[in-house]
Amino acid sequence: MSEHITVRDEGPVRVIRMNRPEKKNALNAPMYDGFAAALEDANVKESIRCVLIAGQPGAFCAGNDLADFKRAAESGSEGLGTSVVHFLHVLARSQKPLVAAVQGLAVGIGTTMLLHCDFAVAGTDARFSTPFVHLGLVPEAASSLLAPRLMGHRRAFSLLAMGRPMDAAEAKTAGLVNLVVAAGEVEAEAMKAAREIAALPPEALAASRRLLRGSHEEIAARIDEEAEIYRQRLRAPEARAAFEAFFARKR
Ligand code: COA
Repeated sequence: MSEHITVRDEGPVRVIRMNRPEKKNALNAPMYDGFAAALEDANVKESIRCVLIAGQPGAFCAGNDLADFKRAAESGSEGLGTSVVHFLHVLARSQKPLVAAVQGLAVGIGTTMLLHCDFAVAGTDARFSTPFVHLGLVPEAASSLLAPRLMGHRRAFSLLAMGRPMDAAEAKTAGLVNLVVAAGEVEAEAMKAAREIAALPPEALAASRRLLRGSHEEIAARIDEEAEIYRQRLRAPEARAAFEAFFARKR
């Protein structure tokens, strides 16, 4: 288990926290593994009725660790990596309802993971961005399927292809989050929703959730299709140049 993912059970609510503030909660392979393990463990624990995903004040998640992407680009074959792809599948088929508490920046997977959540609370300081194309990459986490469904093609194109960020109010209008509150109130509001969900009759809730979420196979197939294109894109000069530029920016 990664030291950068902490897991705490508060009664029926499991809180999974990304905890790497010095890197703005960028997710590396051990963190994906720890995150996936915490979700899989929640699936088999009857006492856990809801999972709350949280980050740090000012940084929900800065996206995939670009050092890992740079390494994958240099190796020429790894693609997204087995840890990332495994995490995405586990997230997409979580048996327990997922609530997100977003403060500050939510980049890349920090934004696209929200498409798999059932309820999301954002702080007024939240900023959602997915600079995939700027990095020479493509959307992941089945966001190319789920985002246009949620917010329509043009808003999804602006976010996922043009890389234009959304502030909290825009994210609420787009349906990416349910509620916008002061940054200091995000976790309390998210916990309130998580406890409300946890108190619902579990079997009726699980059946309703399955109906609302639709075909899992379609989502799983899109995760794999995107991952295959990622593998090709990571090797491309566009991506390599973008990673070099990120790590050269402070030199
Ligand atoms: N991967 C690896 N390291 C990252 C990172 C990422 N995705 N995001 C931030 N970091 C690191 C920075 O390299 C820096 O490390 P250092 O102090 O050792 O140099 C530290 O986190 C703080 O980031 P910094 O850029 O100084 O903070 P900032 O507030 O000026 O900017 C971001 C924050 C998130 C806007 C900026 O770091 C950024 O653009 N990160 C890349 C986001 C990204 O493209 N993610 C992938 C999407 S697919």
